[in-house]
Amino acid sequence: MKIVIVTGGSRGLGASTALACARRGMGVIITYNSSPEKANQVAEAIAAIGGRAAVLKLDVGDSRSFPAFRKAVSAQLEAVWKRKTFDVLVNNAGYGLYAPIADVTEEQFDGLFKVHLKGPFFLTQALLPILEGGGHVVNVTSATSRVATAGVAPYAAFKGGLEVLTRYMAKEFGTRGIRANSIAPGAIRTELGGGLSEEFEALLADQTALGRVGEPEEIGGVIAGLLSDENRWINAQNIEVAGGYII
Ligand SMILES: NC(=O)c1ccc[n+]([C@@H]2O[C@H](COP(=O)([O-])OP(=O)(O)OC[C@H]3O[C@@H](n4cnc5c(N)ncnc54)[C@H](OP(=O)(O)O)[C@@H]3O)[C@@H](O)[C@H]2O)c1
Repeated sequence: MKIVIVTGGSRGLGASTALACARRGMGVIITYNSSPEKANQVAEAIAAIGGRAAVLKLDVGDSRSFPAFRKAVSAQLEAVWKRKTFDVLVNNAGYGLYAPIADVTEEQFDGLFKVHLKGPFFLTQALLPILEGGGHVVNVTSATSRVATAGVAPYAAFKGGLEVLTRYMAKEFGTRGIRANSIAPGAIRTELGGGLSEEFEALLADQTALGRVGEPEEIGGVIAGLLSDENRWINAQNIEVAGGYII
């Protein structure tokens, strides 16, 4: 059985990824930052379909907490699955900020940097010793790195950095048979950045070839599918999943 860690698995794309993995028979460790109730609801939904899920607290913006997080992961692996290693890390946790470059504060910039680039880097480093050979790192990037959409400059820049980091991970971890890919969603209906207003959603739908925004399930299913053996030769790619966004 594959065991998958999904950061930010309490809501949105992470919750959908955790459920999609569980439906395919994988065990899941879900992390939350501020919503333990929501993370527990996801774990209950997984139990209801006969799956196993563990829930852990993690602030991806606090790299000093990562050694303790690794110990907590090891304890859960042992207690729930009688394992010392896990198979997949999905670096998904994140938040949005809409502000033009002229208005972004240094504090806002640093906050986004810690969660979207520094966090995935050092979390992956911390968990690498217990990531099974033949495993997989999936980083959640964004279509906003390809097209300069309004007001998300630091966020998009760090997602672009994460896309580059993914290729370096693939190169360096490949010697252990570990793949690394990133998934770049377009606009998906979640609570990111306070959710989509009706007006903004209409604009995004208009910019998308399929004429609508995406649903979380349309990302979770792709990530779970990417982990399957049939897709084992996909490596070092940034895969946009966006319904044809600004093409
Ligand atoms: N939705 C989109 O249109 C879209 C498009 C492209 C990329 N993405 C990316 O997809 C990922 C998931 O976003 P989403 O749309 O699912 O957002 P969401 O619904 O707002 O969920 C965000 C998740 O990340 C967690 N999180 C936030 N800050 C965290 C931190 N400092 N440490 C640990 N966990 C943290 C939240 O946990 P708590 O609730 O427990 O705080 C929650 O589980 C993000 O990386 C985002 O940038 C989203």
